[in-house]
Amino acid sequence: MVLAVPAKAVAPVLDEIAELVVGDIIVDPTNPADEDREVILRAAASLAEAVVLLAPGARVVKAFNTILASRFNDPVVDGVPLDGFYAGDDADAKRVVAGLLAEMGFHPTDGDGSWEFYFMCDEIESTVKEIEGRGGVCGPRADRGWGVVCEIEGPGGRKLALYEPRHPTAHGG
Ligand SMILES: NC(=O)c1ccc[n+]([C@@H]2O[C@H](COP(=O)([O-])OP(=O)(O)OC[C@H]3O[C@@H](n4cnc5c(N)ncnc54)[C@H](OP(=O)(O)O)[C@@H]3O)[C@@H](O)[C@H]2O)c1
Repeated sequence: MVLAVPAKAVAPVLDEIAELVVGDIIVDPTNPADEDREVILRAAASLAEAVVLLAPGARVVKAFNTILASRFNDPVVDGVPLDGFYAGDDADAKRVVAGLLAEMGFHPTDGDGSWEFYFMCDEIESTVKEIEGRGGVCGPRADRGWGVVCEIEGPGGRKLALYEPRHPTAHGG
């Protein structure tokens, strides 16, 4: 089931249905947008963690909370599927939700394999050659539509991304 209710309704709704959803997957798209700012700032845990506590028998997957409903029928921008983030503790339930996101046309991602920093370069092959010439390690290239990306290993083993853009850039490259 999808818990598509305002955040303030989460607790009363789950109090009513918790016993009925034991073993089921609850997709939680809720954002505490209707909460008082003070309540949000003082909250010790995330709303998804509250859902887990209020429906302890269910398998909770956070998803769709970063996507505007108006995008559900049109999840591709400039030929690139939008990321559909999902998170949870139950691997099987996460797989089901990832499949749902993919069927809708999103690019499902749970954060694994993502990078915090991207370095842009004019031409990826020559840049990779230069990095490898200095002892750096570069992964295989992947064409993501908006650019050709490869993983590089930074100091201390930290993974970074290098990409050659296919999108317009500020410097007109
Ligand atoms: N809309 C978006 O673009 C978007 C994007 C990301 C995340 N979200 C999150 O998704 C959730 C749902 O969003 P929404 O835009 O669909 O919200 P919404 O239109 O305000 O509410 C959805 C439904 O919740 C029901 N509801 C309200 N209070 C209730 C209560 N006390 N008990 C039982 N049902 C209640 C209402 O049903 P009735 O009409 O039958 O009263 C309403 O149809 C929210 O938590 C929001 O933060 C929304």
